[in-house]
Amino acid sequence: MASIKIKDMSVSYNKGKSYVLDKLNLDIKDGEFCVFLGPSGCGKSTAMHCIAGLLHPTNGEIWFGDEIMTSADGKKKDKTFVPPQERNIAMVFQEYALYPNMTVRENMSFALKTKKAPKEEIDKRVAYMAQMLSIEQLLDRRPAELSGGQRQRVALGRALVRDPQVFLLDEPLGNLDAKLRDQVRYELKKIQEQLGITTIYVTHDQTEAMTMADHIVLMKEGHIMQQGTPNDLYDHPANEFVAGFLGTPQINIFPCEVKGDVLDGGAFQLKVPESLKACLAAYKGKKVDLGIRPSDFELAENGGEGIHVHVDSIEPLGDAYLIYVRVGEKVVVFKYTGETAPEEKELVLRPNMAKLHLFDPTTEDRINK
Ligand SMILES: Nc1ncnc2c1ncn2[C@@H]1O[C@H](COP(=O)(O)OP(=O)(O)O)[C@@H](O)[C@H]1O
Ligand SMILES: [Mg+2]
Repeated sequence: MASIKIKDMSVSYNKGKSYVLDKLNLDIKDGEFCVFLGPSGCGKSTAMHCIAGLLHPTNGEIWFGDEIMTSADGKKKDKTFVPPQERNIAMVFQEYALYPNMTVRENMSFALKTKKAPKEEIDKRVAYMAQMLSIEQLLDRRPAELSGGQRQRVALGRALVRDPQVFLLDEPLGNLDAKLRDQVRYELKKIQEQLGITTIYVTHDQTEAMTMADHIVLMKEGHIMQQGTPNDLYDHPANEFVAGFLGTPQINIFPCEVKGDVLDGGAFQLKVPESLKACLAAYKGKKVDLGIRPSDFELAENGGEGIHVHVDSIEPLGDAYLIYVRVGEKVVVFKYTGETAPEEKELVLRPNMAKLHLFDPTTEDRINK
């Protein structure tokens, strides 16, 4: 197993005119489940391909433990470059391809056979991994006789029997339907924990990232916007992009003005809580963006202070309701966990004042630390 260190890694496809990865720095701990998260095109796969050795970065270094894998300085030839087959990595992609004319057992044994591992060793490893993935009963079938979810498990098993030091997965569950995706996600996380293999998992799906990651690296346009545990990013988003990317439905953002001790949102006013006074001192008379997550509102039962809203529509979720309301011109969503949906059209919402997020509207960076 290995930790992974990335130092100032950049990738340019046009000789430095623009960068699809711009000075990436990363430390992934040994045994960690790290998720590269971000919108399509932000550079997740590019970063992973560099780590795998399928792509030469323009600049920077990649280390596995204390062994250097890649060292590039913008010149044509890298100073150090360990080829992919010598990095002891295993990869699974969305378009995994199993060998169609081999059985599951043969598919899973193939890499070890090529490495000339002894037969008993191969049989033992395949049996162990098949048991971990609950595919023992499928070992003698061919891929055409399997469902999509079963094939995906075989692809994972085929990669894992090699006992890699680094496990790389690029949107591996994208082809599965929602229910199966939840199940394989849960199993994959469990297996990774048991095996303790350092794993990088690429996805654009924030739910996958939140549920599986020890460490999320959230990217945008070749830059890391924030990294940390799922809770770090969710509870303390470093900027509006991070706040908006994590959480469904999305966080509500209210442009406000700081007027004395009041946050003035036009259609509502909130008293600035004691805990936020210090960080707002520099914003007196200025604008701030106030972020409130849909689950951080309470319904004020008997009217009173809060944000007065008009109900637009209600979506039942089974265990809660999403209530879309209008605040002035703005549509806002909040999550209501009461037994039955409120019947009134005019409601008063009370935000959880301990969970307000404040951002600078110019830089979009977080104000309250
Ligand atoms: N061979 C290439 N030549 C030029 N640009 C590329 C090439 N491969 C990828 N890109 C660009 O690099 C950016 C990052 O791509 P990628 O890493 O695949 O994103 P992601 O995996 O996050 O969706 C994209 O803007 C993509 O268009
Ligand atoms: Mg990709």
